[in-house]
Amino acid sequence: MAKTKVKTAFFCSNCGAQSPKWVGRCPSCGEWNTYTEEVIERENRSGGWNSPSATSRKGAKESRLVRDIQTEEIQRIDTGNNELNRVLGGGLVPGSFVLVGGEPGIGKSTLMLQVALQIPHGKKVLYVSGEESAQQLRMRAERLGLTESGCFILTETDMDEIFAQTQAVQPDILVADSIQTLTSSTIEASAGSISQIKECAALFQRFAKETGTSVFVIGHITKDGNIAGPKLLEHIVDTVLHFEGDRNYGYRILRSVKNRFGSTNEIGIYEMQNNGLREVSNPSEILLSQREENLSGTAVAATLEGLRPMIVEVQALVSQSAYNVAQRSATGFDLRRLNMLLAVLEKRCGAKLAQKDVFINIAGGLRVDDPAIDLAVIAAVLSSGQDAPLNPKDCFAAEVGLTGEIRPVSRLEQRLAEAEKLGFERVFVSKYGLKGIPSKYHSKIVAVGNLFELFQKIFSEK
Ligand code: TYD
Ligand code: MG
Repeated sequence: MAKTKVKTAFFCSNCGAQSPKWVGRCPSCGEWNTYTEEVIERENRSGGWNSPSATSRKGAKESRLVRDIQTEEIQRIDTGNNELNRVLGGGLVPGSFVLVGGEPGIGKSTLMLQVALQIPHGKKVLYVSGEESAQQLRMRAERLGLTESGCFILTETDMDEIFAQTQAVQPDILVADSIQTLTSSTIEASAGSISQIKECAALFQRFAKETGTSVFVIGHITKDGNIAGPKLLEHIVDTVLHFEGDRNYGYRILRSVKNRFGSTNEIGIYEMQNNGLREVSNPSEILLSQREENLSGTAVAATLEGLRPMIVEVQALVSQSAYNVAQRSATGFDLRRLNMLLAVLEKRCGAKLAQKDVFINIAGGLRVDDPAIDLAVIAAVLSSGQDAPLNPKDCFAAEVGLTGEIRPVSRLEQRLAEAEKLGFERVFVSKYGLKGIPSKYHSKIVAVGNLFELFQKIFSEK
């Protein structure tokens, strides 16, 4: 493939100073290690990929009145994976550029290969892997039981070669695993460097927009989001999906962080099994499968993950501390929030927790951010502290404020409906947010205003 003529230069990411060579310390602002290589001039428009419309786009575009712009109904592509369709906003938009980020080992390659192999007939997919050999991919396909697929596999890291293959295959969907392994020959920096990641992403973006091919790019992100890379792509791509979960458990959540073609409230839930990722269409099953006998220290919360109601179990253990400083630990729940709730319990409810260790765990390895889980956390702590089990048909949905007041949460009706569906007989909610709740739920609602009322009602009126 003919090499295209490009000119690159190095720029300081701190002050923007330019230099023809890499320098360790910026002479202009004095910062260390801030220089990265970037393309400043390009003769041919892209690294080896000759866009069919490249020549016809020479003239400047004319501005138009907004009322004159015709919109066409976008025909979204059904990916064959309902959870993914849902997170994308109802299917894949042709020509869209999607970044799938997540920690290494969480299952990004499994997810995308599974989607690529299962694409419904009539759509062509090219799966480019810079991480695994063709044999490894074939073995993975065997593990997934999807070897009969018509998906094309390419193990390549050079962008020129990848675009040469897209011309040969003419795919509707291109998957690239992962952006950190790809290199464009226009830049000398090594794969995974900031300038390579930026350049490869820019090439994919132009390719997607001009050919109408949808492009999925996988990017590794560490827990703190630190290994920059994919973070700096978030503004270039149309959609950013995060694949997350606790590696010790099977459940995985696909979250949309940015979406130009849909809401960012949607999530997709999967379970990693021996033969790939199973779609979990009824998230509350995570709880139902694990609840056995009625023990003290467990309470059930009616939470919302994105727009989906999800019933989750909170477990608490309150025990006498062996040391001077009591331990507090939370898995799947914010530790600072736990400390705050315990302080509120002490001050407003007279609970003696200073000498007690408190541990909180959300069942199933899930992480819950919904504030509606507060009341269940408090109820679980009270139950463990008293060593008295709660009524197994009770469920909680409210936020707790600093003064001990119990506050209403959003979309209460949806939560009540889900609790009812799963056979809960009483739902504890804030007495301040009951306006407009249909009367069919009234018999189920236990309205409480503060922690004292809660304490009385959970133990005395079982
Ligand atoms: P992988 O998709 O390679 O993660 P990533 O691309 O995000 O780095 O796979 C992650 C893990 O999933 C790996 O430890 C093996 C496991 N796995 C299963 O449990 N079941 C399966 O069917 C497959 C293919 C993988
Ligand atoms: Mg991978």
